[in-house]
Amino acid sequence: MQRAQRKLKHIRFALETGFGPGSTHFEDIRFIHNCLPEINPADIVLSADLFGKMLKAPFLIDAITGGTDAVTEINRKLADVASRTGIAMAVGSQYGTVKSGLGRNSYTVVRENNPDGIIFANVSALATPQQAQDAVNMVEADALEIHLNPAQELVMPEGDRCFRGFLDNMLLIRDKVDVPVIVKETGCGIAQEAYKLLADHGFTFFDCAGSGGTNFPVIEAKRAVADLDEMAFWGNPTAWSLLDAAATLDNEYFLIASGGIDNAAKAAKALAMGADMVGMSGVILKLLSEQDSDAAATFIKKMQTELREYMLLLGCQNIKELRKTPLLFSGQTMDFILCRGYDAAVLSKKRR
Ligand SMILES: Cc1cc2nc3c(=O)[nH]c(=O)nc-3n(C[C@H](O)[C@H](O)[C@H](O)COP(=O)(O)O)c2cc1C
Repeated sequence: MQRAQRKLKHIRFALETGFGPGSTHFEDIRFIHNCLPEINPADIVLSADLFGKMLKAPFLIDAITGGTDAVTEINRKLADVASRTGIAMAVGSQYGTVKSGLGRNSYTVVRENNPDGIIFANVSALATPQQAQDAVNMVEADALEIHLNPAQELVMPEGDRCFRGFLDNMLLIRDKVDVPVIVKETGCGIAQEAYKLLADHGFTFFDCAGSGGTNFPVIEAKRAVADLDEMAFWGNPTAWSLLDAAATLDNEYFLIASGGIDNAAKAAKALAMGADMVGMSGVILKLLSEQDSDAAATFIKKMQTELREYMLLLGCQNIKELRKTPLLFSGQTMDFILCRGYDAAVLSKKRR
């Protein structure tokens, strides 16, 4: 009951607080205009082959909800939107359900309404390997997201305080489950140091979920009726988390850019910075809740059209070419690049 209330409050407060107060810092990144793009729009490819299935565009409705009957309808609608637009979808954390057995329908409804789609399961890093496999089976998942959310836990009065042993447990989960494992943040970003540690342990799928979008420290403070000052700005902005990945990881990885992405310009920049896919949660939830599934599907189709237009302007036929298009860095992002010891000129030319 307590968990069900928490899920509903997360949705309510995510809608009330929106994005921020910090920025994604995509505004510090500019494309350079190409006056001679030499490209036929018919040759632009957005579709992508992922886990043996085809996506119409490299977009993902990222983890939002599940675990109580009260959100079954939201998940049914999200699955319908993903199916209609040909994009991937992740369910919200199944950790409570694999522990208690309650609320399974709110997840199974996703596979029922999108039988051929790409669906990601989602658990906490505290799940046992068996619980993780149960979560995968529940939605016949194509991959499993393991979410990391220490800042959120710390602001939650009932949250976890000890984070020791998570990496070892994630290795146990990865060894046991029969689908790829994606390591995911929930809005505070993955930094260079964590990418490196995870990559050294053989993880190759990441969802950066940086700050500047949905803000769980703020949501949890609201739920706890507590004040929050500096923590409202905690986390690595999405653009910086992508730069850390580009400068740290080698080519053999799959990167989802998420956190505050709500238009095609940010999506184009994220893909140009080295992401394979763009995840969105807050903006889709808002359209679905305040309007309807049609509004969410129309938004996703518009993003696809506009992403094509950016690629046309830049003369890029596919996402790989987008990663070679020159970028300009300014403002705090340039400070970030300098402090991290990255070579701005190298990152400007090619990200991976
Ligand atoms: C209401 C709500 C609930 C969420 N629950 C989960 C969750 O259970 N597991 C998870 O990995 N991420 C969860 N997230 C985080 C999102 O998947 C995403 O990483 C984050 O919101 C940043 O994306 P955005 O700025 O586009 O919303 C949730 C997001 C929202 C809005």
